[in-house]
Order: sequence, then C-alpha cells, then structure tokens
Amino acid sequence: MMLGSVRAMRSREGDQPRRVVCPGSYDPVTNGHLDIVERAAKLFDEVIVAVLVNPNKKGLFSTEERVEILAEITAGLPNVRVDSWRGLLVDYCRQHGVAAIAKGLRSVSDFDYELQMAQMNRELSGVETLLMSNNPAYGFVSSSLVKEIAHYGGDVKNLVPDVVFQRLAAKFSLPR
Ligand code: PNS
Repeated sequence: MMLGSVRAMRSREGDQPRRVVCPGSYDPVTNGHLDIVERAAKLFDEVIVAVLVNPNKKGLFSTEERVEILAEITAGLPNVRVDSWRGLLVDYCRQHGVAAIAKGLRSVSDFDYELQMAQMNRELSGVETLLMSNNPAYGFVSSSLVKEIAHYGGDVKNLVPDVVFQRLAAKFSLPR
C-alpha cells in the first residue's frame, strides 16, 4: 500500500515527467542535503537541485561554486540536475513544470519555518511541498555550523561530501 503510493509519484508512460525541486542555499551542501536529494531521486522522474540566490546574503561560496560542487557530487545520479535561481521559488516551479518541492526536516524548529514556507508557497501557486524526515545520522548537521567549525579549524570531514571538504580545507587551510 505504502509502496504503491510512492510509485505513484513517478509518471506513467506518455505522461509528463514528474519533477521535484530540492531548493536551498547550499552554502555549502552537506551530507544531510545529499541524503534528501538521493532519496527524492528514487521517488520522482526528475530532481532539480536549485541553488536559490539570496541577494542580501554574501555566502562563503559563490553561486557558481555551489552549482559546480552540487553538479560534481550528483554526477552519478542520472535523473538529477543542478540549477540556480534568483527570485521566488514558486516562479521557478511554474517556469520549469515542477510539481512539488522536497525538503528535509531535522527538528521541530525546522518544522515551524518549513511549514510556514510550504503554506505560503501553496497559497501563492498551488505547488505542494513534501517534508522528508532527515536521516538522524545528519540531524545535527547544518551548513552554518559546518562553516563555523571549518572557520575555527575544526574537523568537518564526516559532515560534508569530500568535494566540499577539499574546498573548505583550501579556504581555511585545514589539515587534509
Ligand atoms: O537552505 P535554506 O537557506 O534553508 O533555503 C531556504 C530557501 C532558499 C529554500 C528559501 O529561502 C526560498 O525559497 N527562497 C527563495 C525566495 C522565495 O521564494 N521566498 C518565499 C518563501 S515562502
């Protein structure tokens, strides 16, 4: 029964492919993000990992770097592609025929914020949001903590994909 409904997220022959977007800042992408993208790729025909550009926030990595890193770490997932977008997420969804937004939930505090955005996005456009429970192994991992720890020379090797670790190590002169 559950498996049937999961399969239903994929299109039937002749239908439009079912596309989902995994949006985020990805500054940088963590193992927790990657887990969600991999699981979404098993449910949908196509996954778009979209780096949302926030003009008010200067990140550690440029948008181009984030896209490059994401493309590298998802290269082995044939139904995943990476894009970037400046503007409302719902406009991206409309323009790219995206049926749903998928995001990971680590905690109750994530839930409050994510639920508000999910409701707002549905109000604005009718697009649905799927909040996926995070792998508990990564429940404590966030991009901002990874940056802070790397900044002070701490070990972030097990928190991020190796491509990200190498880039952080280069930026903060971390031992490899
Ligand atoms: O990784 P983050 O920073 O938690 O991701 C938040 C993000 C980028 C998904 C969210 O801020 C977003 O959707 N920004 C795009 C602008 C937008 O649509 N704002 C209205 C949200 S209801």
